[in-house]
Amino acid sequence: MVSREQIDAAVGILRSGGLVAFPTETVYGLGAHALDPLAVARIYAAKSRPQSSPLIVHVHNIDAARRMTSHWPEAAERLAQRFWPGPLTLVLPKISQIPDLVTAGLGNVGLRVPAHPVALALLTASAMPLAAPSANRFTEVSPTTAQHVAQSLGDRVDLILDGGSCSVGIESTVLSLAGDRPVLLRPGMLGRQELEEVLGQPLALLDQVSTAAHPSPGLSDRHYAPRTPLLAVASAAELPASGRGLVLLLDGTKDWSHFPTHPMPSEPRAYAQVLYQVMRSVDAMGLDWIGLQLPPATPAWDGINDRLRRAAQKNNSLFP
Ligand code: TXA
Ligand code: MG
Repeated sequence: MVSREQIDAAVGILRSGGLVAFPTETVYGLGAHALDPLAVARIYAAKSRPQSSPLIVHVHNIDAARRMTSHWPEAAERLAQRFWPGPLTLVLPKISQIPDLVTAGLGNVGLRVPAHPVALALLTASAMPLAAPSANRFTEVSPTTAQHVAQSLGDRVDLILDGGSCSVGIESTVLSLAGDRPVLLRPGMLGRQELEEVLGQPLALLDQVSTAAHPSPGLSDRHYAPRTPLLAVASAAELPASGRGLVLLLDGTKDWSHFPTHPMPSEPRAYAQVLYQVMRSVDAMGLDWIGLQLPPATPAWDGINDRLRRAAQKNNSLFP
């Protein structure tokens, strides 16, 4: 997969302020030295991303994360011990050495230890915190293979480390511990209930708190979207009678078969793992529409339903 020589080359690029795309368990990240503002500026330029959307800082272990914060609450310690390395980003008060560009001017930083051997090898060998958003252009579906990164960013990235397909498949759960109560800023495959069990208290959701107290820029944009209209529906009757379309249908569903269908796993982990890959390949077919059978509105599907809601163009009211 990735050789020692490639890791060394990546470290050299990062030291000189360049960009390296690397695999994580969630999606591929576009990494730069987080404490080098010029390198971080290149990330925004490569993605054509507005600088108002903050970047997650990746580190190799809990100690390194703690050193990026001015306050490390007990809740952070417990969650980190339980879920890192893993698909959880913790938002905490930042140290002043982290450039404002990384956090879009916020006083808090998003931190994560990714559970991927290549990411951990890179973080350890470079001994640098790496600012890394998903390695796609702004508004595109996040990449889950090295090929996706190459298609999306081409020579805007200095090196792509190929670690195969991402095992989780959608972006990390983002939890803010910067205020007086924990707030779920972005759902993911690490579910709310698992977090609440460790915290011993319920999480507030973003729509229950004031945005002034819990700024979360970057979440309101229409992210994760294919170019083809994605129509989220509860039944076949809601799909267009005309145009060339395809329905992403959960395995085991029978009565929609008069439409061309693409099977989707009926188990959430398996669904998340293939979702962006399927969106990219179906999007490339040049259809008039993509139909999407809504998955169940149960907690295990929260992260997936969040991404589908952002990607879907119509019938958003059908989502939980
Ligand atoms: O799984 C992931 O999280 C991937 C991999 C590469 O780690 N990264 C990722 O990054 O999805 P990105 O930039 O596409 O999304 C990061 C989101 C931001 O849009 C924002 O909503 C939230 O995380 N975020 C980051 N830093 C924050 C901060 N300081 N305060 C509030 N929200 C923050
Ligand atoms: Mg992204």
